[in-house]
Amino acid sequence: MKAVVQRRYGSAVPGDLDVPVPGQGEVLLEVRAAGVDMGVWHLLTGKPYLLRFLGFGLRGPKSPVPGRDVAGVVKEIGPGVTGFAVGDEVFGTCDGSFAEYAVAPVSRLARKPDGISFTEAAALPISGGTALQGLRGIRPGQRVLVLGAGGGVGSFGVQIAKALGAHVTGVCSTRKVELVRSLGADEVFDYTVEDFSGTYDLILDCGGARPLSRLRGATNERGRIVLVGAETGGSITGGFHKSLGSLLLNPFSSRKFVPLMSTERADVFDELRVLVEAGSLKAAVGKVFPLSEALDAVDHVYSRRSAGKTVVTI
Ligand SMILES: NC(=O)c1ccc[n+]([C@@H]2O[C@H](COP(=O)([O-])OP(=O)(O)OC[C@H]3O[C@@H](n4cnc5c(N)ncnc54)[C@H](OP(=O)(O)O)[C@@H]3O)[C@@H](O)[C@H]2O)c1
Repeated sequence: MKAVVQRRYGSAVPGDLDVPVPGQGEVLLEVRAAGVDMGVWHLLTGKPYLLRFLGFGLRGPKSPVPGRDVAGVVKEIGPGVTGFAVGDEVFGTCDGSFAEYAVAPVSRLARKPDGISFTEAAALPISGGTALQGLRGIRPGQRVLVLGAGGGVGSFGVQIAKALGAHVTGVCSTRKVELVRSLGADEVFDYTVEDFSGTYDLILDCGGARPLSRLRGATNERGRIVLVGAETGGSITGGFHKSLGSLLLNPFSSRKFVPLMSTERADVFDELRVLVEAGSLKAAVGKVFPLSEALDAVDHVYSRRSAGKTVVTI
């Protein structure tokens, strides 16, 4: 099969590999589309270095194929799998979606939402699931601020917060303002013109550029600041030190920092499916690349030129 092949950090090339065989609890997927997010860049480069010690592989990645978000068709069922059949259209995550075929654990797969393309479905799992988990507990009428609202997680965050009945303010750079408005944000700040103002019950921080004190100062009493992630933390710990530091501040305030570590699970993806089928959520797919240009797709996301989600089609 055609695939992007990565044997060590910092080096990946298009190549040919054997079609993988599904193990216990896994299915073989014919991949139709693979979503791209910053996590793929981290696993391609092995940066921040801390992630190498967190189980992703010390000298090189555990999976020889990059790519995690996936949408495709079940081709073969592994031992012990129930609830899925050959021909099912699914989406979720796996190790190695930048390939014509991939094996995926059914614990990370859900039925593809009706009425959307594989490209849209592949954009949903990691970014949509992260936004969903970051916004848990939001009640109608509460005020939500989304930083990085024009990016992968942020574009879902705006829509999910709206679906939960919140008043939503998005913050982004100029070229993403129209997108963020179109996603339903009640207010949009273009931070290149003016920084955001106001106070919020929940801040979903997907950009990471603002100091913790600035975030806490913009939060209502008993509000939460959900730290999703940042690319501003350097190549050793990434944003981890900021997240850990935020926890040290929590005992001294009623406003709480919540460093988010989202999980990839079938039940989360099923929740996304329900929201999509109800018309409350739509992947904001930006640029689409063919498999032969998958590494350009990752560069595109890394460069911050991407608005919404970038997807590779196979
Ligand atoms: N905690 C978790 O479980 C989890 C899960 C998924 C992702 N993440 C992390 O969360 C972060 C956001 O992910 P994503 O997929 O939404 O990324 P993304 O698509 O790149 O979006 C992030 C947005 O933040 C803004 N931004 C990026 N770098 C910035 C900087 N240096 N200063 C100010 N603003 C910046 C950009 O918007 P503008 O161009 O408008 O500035 C960009 O659209 C990443 O760091 C990712 O690794 C964490």
